Amino acid sequence: METNALSIGFAGLQLENPTMLASGVMGYSAESFHRIAKSGAGAVVTKSVGIQPRVGYVNPTVVQAAAGLINAMGLPNPGIDVFSEEIKFSKTILRVPLIVSVFGYSAEEYATVAKKAAEAGADAIELNVSCPHVKQTGAEIGQNPKILAEVVQQVKASINKPLIVKLSPNVADITVLAEAAVKAGADALTAVNTLKAIAIDAETMLPILANVKGGLSGAAVKPVALRCVYDIAEKFEVPIIGCGGVSNWRDAVEFFLAGASAVQIGTAVADDIEVFRSVTKGVENYLRKKHYRSVKEIVGLAHRK
Ligand code: FUM
Repeated sequence: METNALSIGFAGLQLENPTMLASGVMGYSAESFHRIAKSGAGAVVTKSVGIQPRVGYVNPTVVQAAAGLINAMGLPNPGIDVFSEEIKFSKTILRVPLIVSVFGYSAEEYATVAKKAAEAGADAIELNVSCPHVKQTGAEIGQNPKILAEVVQQVKASINKPLIVKLSPNVADITVLAEAAVKAGADALTAVNTLKAIAIDAETMLPILANVKGGLSGAAVKPVALRCVYDIAEKFEVPIIGCGGVSNWRDAVEFFLAGASAVQIGTAVADDIEVFRSVTKGVENYLRKKHYRSVKEIVGLAHRK
């Protein structure tokens, strides 16, 4: 097997291995991105940043579900002007691509934040148009193909870095949104953000999260995320990054077979920060056992007739 069997390039990005930190997990500090890269991630995606600082919701913001987590943080972030300094510093210590996740309340706002992130040194921009519970941001934009296309077009026109759009699973047909994003200029798609969910306490007889509803991540969402990747790959040539419930090499392989070129890992990092290394090692062993020379060779194989 070639030594670079795990490296993969798509949408203008070159990754040493096909694992990435998913947005939302390790906050905003250069040190934590560096720690993740040292744990073997092929790229790092930041938590979403907006035009102004946002405090987010009061606690509780995270609750354990049967096979995952439900969170409603409320997009807390320091605002792009402060975060730009962290992006610049991150670029001096990170040896893997830094992808900045961006959210906004209008196409103009998305474009402004993306431009500032790109100018600060982001290697790519991931648009969060899919936060399932913050009003007037992700949810509405990511569920409406016309508004989504406007946002993607404006962002694309304002940056000269790869543009990734993170889609929502909370729609009837994800391929309609995928098509809108691709036609508007998305270079790659991430599938998917969290599933809208709720947890209720039998003792207090009330919802547990301060925001009442949140987004479900972790093992519980994997079959849904896998189906979303499969549906998009069935219709479009666009590079896809699988996201949802990856915690071991077998999960990652399933996403590659469904059509993903890389996978993002989020919830599983909370249990084991070294998960990137174990996934990568497992994928390498799998390729060797199956006599494939690279990850690229197995992308989309589940679609063969
Ligand atoms: O509440 C949050 O910060 C979550 C954002 C998201 O799921 O995109």
